[in-house]
Amino acid sequence: MEIDISYIKAPRKDGWGFLPPSQEVFDILIDVKEKTMAKKIMEIGFNAGHSSIYLLNIFPDAELHVIGPSPKHGNQNVIRGRYGDRFKFYQMRTDQLRGTGFKENFDLGFIDGHHSSAMATIDLDYCINDLKCEYLVLDNYEQNGVKNALSLFKEDIKQIKKYSYINTWKGETKNLEMALYYVSRNRF
Ligand SMILES: C[S@@+](CC[C@H](N)C(=O)[O-])C[C@H]1O[C@@H](n2cnc3c(N)ncnc32)[C@H](O)[C@@H]1O
Repeated sequence: MEIDISYIKAPRKDGWGFLPPSQEVFDILIDVKEKTMAKKIMEIGFNAGHSSIYLLNIFPDAELHVIGPSPKHGNQNVIRGRYGDRFKFYQMRTDQLRGTGFKENFDLGFIDGHHSSAMATIDLDYCINDLKCEYLVLDNYEQNGVKNALSLFKEDIKQIKKYSYINTWKGETKNLEMALYYVSRNRF
Protein backbone atom coordinates (compact mmCIF):
# COMPACT_ATOMS: atom_id res chain seq x y z
CA MET A 1 0.00 0.00 0.00
CA GLU A 2 1.25 3.49 -0.85
CA ILE A 3 0.38 6.50 1.29
CA ASP A 4 1.72 9.85 0.13
CA ILE A 5 3.43 11.81 2.91
CA SER A 6 5.74 13.79 0.61
CA TYR A 7 3.82 17.05 1.16
CA ILE A 8 4.43 17.39 4.92
CA LYS A 9 7.54 19.00 6.39
CA ALA A 10 9.95 16.50 7.97
CA PRO A 11 9.84 16.22 11.76
CA ARG A 12 12.66 17.73 13.81
CA LYS A 13 15.39 15.16 14.37
CA ASP A 14 15.81 15.96 18.05
CA GLY A 15 12.14 15.82 18.95
CA TRP A 16 9.47 13.14 19.09
CA GLY A 17 9.34 10.06 16.92
CA PHE A 18 6.67 9.08 14.45
CA LEU A 19 5.15 5.91 13.08
CA PRO A 20 7.20 4.83 10.06
CA PRO A 21 5.47 4.64 6.65
CA SER A 22 6.08 0.88 6.45
CA GLN A 23 3.79 -1.85 5.16
CA GLU A 24 4.09 -3.43 8.60
CA VAL A 25 2.51 -0.35 10.22
CA PHE A 26 -0.13 0.00 7.50
CA ASP A 27 -1.08 -3.69 8.01
CA ILE A 28 -1.54 -3.07 11.74
CA LEU A 29 -3.84 -0.11 11.07
CA ILE A 30 -5.77 -2.10 8.43
CA ASP A 31 -6.30 -4.85 11.00
CA VAL A 32 -7.49 -2.25 13.55
CA LYS A 33 -9.91 -0.92 10.95
CA GLU A 34 -11.29 -4.41 10.22
CA LYS A 35 -11.74 -5.10 13.93
CA THR A 36 -13.24 -1.75 14.95
CA MET A 37 -14.90 -0.31 11.80
CA ALA A 38 -14.32 3.07 13.48
CA LYS A 39 -16.02 6.10 11.94
CA LYS A 40 -14.90 8.67 14.50
CA ILE A 41 -11.35 8.61 15.85
CA MET A 42 -9.58 10.71 18.50
CA GLU A 43 -5.82 10.72 17.99
CA ILE A 44 -3.70 11.93 20.91
CA GLY A 45 -0.18 13.08 19.97
CA PHE A 46 0.72 14.95 16.77
CA ASN A 47 4.34 15.28 15.72
CA ALA A 48 4.66 15.94 11.97
CA GLY A 49 1.39 14.31 10.97
CA HIS A 50 2.47 10.83 9.85
CA SER A 51 -0.02 8.72 11.76
CA SER A 52 -2.82 11.22 11.08
CA ILE A 53 -2.29 10.79 7.34
CA TYR A 54 -2.17 6.98 7.65
CA LEU A 55 -5.45 7.00 9.62
CA LEU A 56 -7.14 9.37 7.14
CA ASN A 57 -6.18 7.00 4.30
CA ILE A 58 -6.84 3.66 5.97
CA PHE A 59 -10.16 4.82 7.46
CA PRO A 60 -11.49 6.75 4.43
CA ASP A 61 -15.00 7.11 5.89
CA ALA A 62 -13.84 8.29 9.30
CA GLU A 63 -13.62 11.70 10.91
CA LEU A 64 -10.28 12.23 12.65
CA HIS A 65 -9.85 14.58 15.63
CA VAL A 66 -6.23 15.18 16.66
CA ILE A 67 -4.67 16.68 19.80
CA GLY A 68 -1.15 18.14 19.55
CA PRO A 69 0.25 20.91 21.73
CA SER A 70 3.22 22.20 19.78
CA PRO A 71 3.33 21.74 16.01
CA LYS A 72 5.45 24.66 14.75
CA HIS A 73 5.79 23.37 11.19
CA GLY A 74 2.17 24.02 10.19
CA ASN A 75 1.63 20.49 8.82
CA GLN A 76 -1.75 20.42 10.56
CA ASN A 77 -2.92 23.20 8.19
CA VAL A 78 -1.57 21.35 5.14
CA ILE A 79 -3.40 18.18 6.20
CA ARG A 80 -6.57 20.16 6.83
CA GLY A 81 -6.22 21.60 3.30
CA ARG A 82 -6.13 18.08 1.83
CA TYR A 83 -8.73 16.34 3.96
CA GLY A 84 -11.04 19.23 4.87
CA ASP A 85 -13.60 18.69 7.61
CA ARG A 86 -12.59 15.06 8.12
CA PHE A 87 -9.55 16.41 10.00
CA LYS A 88 -10.08 18.45 13.16
CA PHE A 89 -7.09 19.73 15.07
CA TYR A 90 -6.82 20.90 18.69
CA GLN A 91 -3.56 22.70 19.40
CA MET A 92 -3.32 21.79 23.08
CA ARG A 93 -2.55 18.96 25.49
CA THR A 94 -5.13 16.33 26.40
CA ASP A 95 -5.76 17.85 29.84
CA GLN A 96 -6.28 21.28 28.24
CA LEU A 97 -8.88 19.95 25.79
CA ARG A 98 -10.56 18.14 28.66
CA GLY A 99 -10.59 21.44 30.59
CA THR A 100 -12.65 23.06 27.81
CA GLY A 101 -15.41 20.53 28.49
CA PHE A 102 -15.04 18.88 25.05
CA LYS A 103 -16.85 15.55 25.40
CA GLU A 104 -18.03 14.08 22.09
CA ASN A 105 -18.24 10.29 21.79
CA PHE A 106 -15.66 8.38 19.73
CA ASP A 107 -15.37 4.86 18.32
CA LEU A 108 -11.59 4.70 18.66
CA GLY A 109 -8.94 6.48 20.73
CA PHE A 110 -5.50 6.30 19.14
CA ILE A 111 -3.08 7.17 21.94
CA ASP A 112 0.49 8.16 21.08
CA GLY A 113 1.18 11.25 23.18
CA HIS A 114 3.55 11.52 26.13
CA HIS A 115 4.37 7.99 27.30
CA SER A 116 4.99 8.69 30.98
CA SER A 117 2.70 6.84 33.34
CA ALA A 118 1.08 10.11 34.53
CA MET A 119 0.36 11.46 31.03
CA ALA A 120 -0.75 8.12 29.59
CA THR A 121 -3.14 7.81 32.54
CA ILE A 122 -4.70 11.20 31.69
CA ASP A 123 -5.05 10.16 28.04
CA LEU A 124 -6.66 6.83 28.96
CA ASP A 125 -8.99 8.38 31.52
CA TYR A 126 -10.15 11.01 29.03
CA CYS A 127 -10.70 8.45 26.24
CA ILE A 128 -12.51 5.95 28.48
CA ASN A 129 -14.56 8.18 30.76
CA ASP A 130 -15.24 11.38 28.82
CA LEU A 131 -15.00 10.45 25.13
CA LYS A 132 -16.54 6.97 25.72
CA CYS A 133 -14.21 5.38 23.14
CA GLU A 134 -15.29 1.86 22.29
CA TYR A 135 -11.77 0.81 21.28
CA LEU A 136 -8.30 2.06 22.14
CA VAL A 137 -4.95 1.71 20.39
CA LEU A 138 -1.86 2.37 22.49
CA ASP A 139 1.41 2.95 20.67
CA ASN A 140 4.67 2.18 22.48
CA TYR A 141 2.99 -0.52 24.50
CA GLU A 142 6.51 -1.82 25.23
CA GLN A 143 7.15 1.18 27.51
CA ASN A 144 6.63 0.79 31.25
CA GLY A 145 4.83 4.13 31.57
CA VAL A 146 2.17 2.97 29.11
CA LYS A 147 1.84 -0.46 30.76
CA ASN A 148 1.56 1.08 34.24
CA ALA A 149 -1.19 3.42 33.07
CA LEU A 150 -3.07 0.55 31.41
CA SER A 151 -2.94 -1.49 34.60
CA LEU A 152 -5.03 1.22 36.34
CA PHE A 153 -7.91 0.55 33.93
CA LYS A 154 -7.79 -3.27 33.88
CA GLU A 155 -11.38 -3.52 35.13
CA ASP A 156 -12.64 -1.53 32.15
CA ILE A 157 -10.53 -2.64 29.19
CA LYS A 158 -9.61 -5.92 27.55
CA GLN A 159 -6.71 -6.49 25.19
CA ILE A 160 -7.79 -7.74 21.78
CA LYS A 161 -4.40 -7.86 20.07
CA LYS A 162 -0.77 -6.90 20.47
CA TYR A 163 1.25 -5.90 17.39
CA SER A 164 4.99 -5.53 16.78
CA TYR A 165 6.76 -3.33 14.28
CA ILE A 166 10.23 -2.02 13.58
CA ASN A 167 11.12 1.66 13.83
CA THR A 168 14.37 3.54 13.38
CA TRP A 169 14.77 6.84 15.22
CA LYS A 170 17.95 8.89 15.68
CA GLY A 171 19.93 6.06 14.05
CA GLU A 172 18.67 3.36 16.40
CA THR A 173 16.48 0.49 15.17
CA LYS A 174 14.08 -1.00 17.72
CA ASN A 175 11.22 -3.48 17.94
CA LEU A 176 8.20 -1.53 19.14
CA GLU A 177 4.67 -2.55 20.11
CA MET A 178 1.12 -1.34 19.68
CA ALA A 179 -1.91 -2.82 21.41
CA LEU A 180 -5.63 -2.77 20.65
CA TYR A 181 -8.16 -2.77 23.52
CA TYR A 182 -11.91 -3.04 23.80
CA VAL A 183 -13.55 -0.80 26.43
CA SER A 184 -16.38 -2.33 28.39
CA ARG A 185 -19.19 -0.21 29.79
CA ASN A 186 -19.67 -3.04 32.32
CA ARG A 187 -16.58 -3.95 34.31
CA PHE A 188 -14.65 -7.07 33.23
C1 LIG B 1 5.41 10.13 19.50
S1 LIG B 1 4.78 11.67 18.98
C2 LIG B 1 3.38 11.23 18.03
C3 LIG B 1 3.76 10.70 16.70
C4 LIG B 1 2.61 10.45 15.79
N1 LIG B 1 1.78 9.34 16.23
C5 LIG B 1 3.10 10.20 14.37
O1 LIG B 1 3.22 9.05 13.97
O2 LIG B 1 3.41 11.17 13.69
C6 LIG B 1 4.10 12.25 20.47
C7 LIG B 1 3.48 13.64 20.38
O3 LIG B 1 2.64 13.82 21.52
C8 LIG B 1 2.60 15.18 21.83
N2 LIG B 1 2.27 15.30 23.26
C9 LIG B 1 3.09 15.34 24.31
N3 LIG B 1 2.42 15.50 25.44
C10 LIG B 1 1.11 15.55 25.10
C11 LIG B 1 -0.09 15.71 25.84
N4 LIG B 1 -0.06 15.87 27.16
N5 LIG B 1 -1.26 15.73 25.18
C12 LIG B 1 -1.28 15.56 23.83
N6 LIG B 1 -0.17 15.42 23.07
C13 LIG B 1 1.01 15.41 23.70
C14 LIG B 1 3.98 15.71 21.51
O4 LIG B 1 3.90 17.04 21.09
C15 LIG B 1 4.49 14.77 20.42
O5 LIG B 1 4.61 15.42 19.19
